[in-house]
Amino acid sequence: MAKANPVKKLHLSAIVLVLYGAASFATAADLEAGKKKAAEVCAACHGPDGNSQAADFPRVAGQHPDYLRKALRDYRSGARKDAVMAGFAKGLTDQDIANLAAYFASQSGLSIKY
Ligand code: HEC
Repeated sequence: MAKANPVKKLHLSAIVLVLYGAASFATAADLEAGKKKAAEVCAACHGPDGNSQAADFPRVAGQHPDYLRKALRDYRSGARKDAVMAGFAKGLTDQDIANLAAYFASQSGLSIKY
């Protein structure tokens, strides 16, 4: 019988590791939960769909989800400093952040009029 090929084995475990890593890295987002949370917490400043009507509050609609996620994590950790957003981000779980980022990213930011 042929000996097991160590190179093949190595390849297989590398693939398994990559798949496992991808699955555990991406927290599956729930758009409906994101929409609900946005209405409860974020809409007052950023607008229900993220198209804020006030110059003081950035538009978050249609931005890249990774960017939104990073911004929220950074406010939460204090890496990005803003007294207002720090207060709101502190109450968010990783799942909330994934949901909110997916929800706002899925909204159209095209209604912006310059
Ligand atoms: C009381 C008003 C207020 C509320 C409520 C609020 N924000 Fe903000 N948000 C701000 C302000 C002001 C900034 C700009 C802060 C800065 O300069 O970094 C901001 C910035 C942000 C940014 C960064 C935007 C960018 O372009 O970098 C994101 C993302 C964001 N908010 C998401 C949220 C989410 C999600 C919620 C709800 C959980 C929320 N905000 C609730 C006022 C608010």
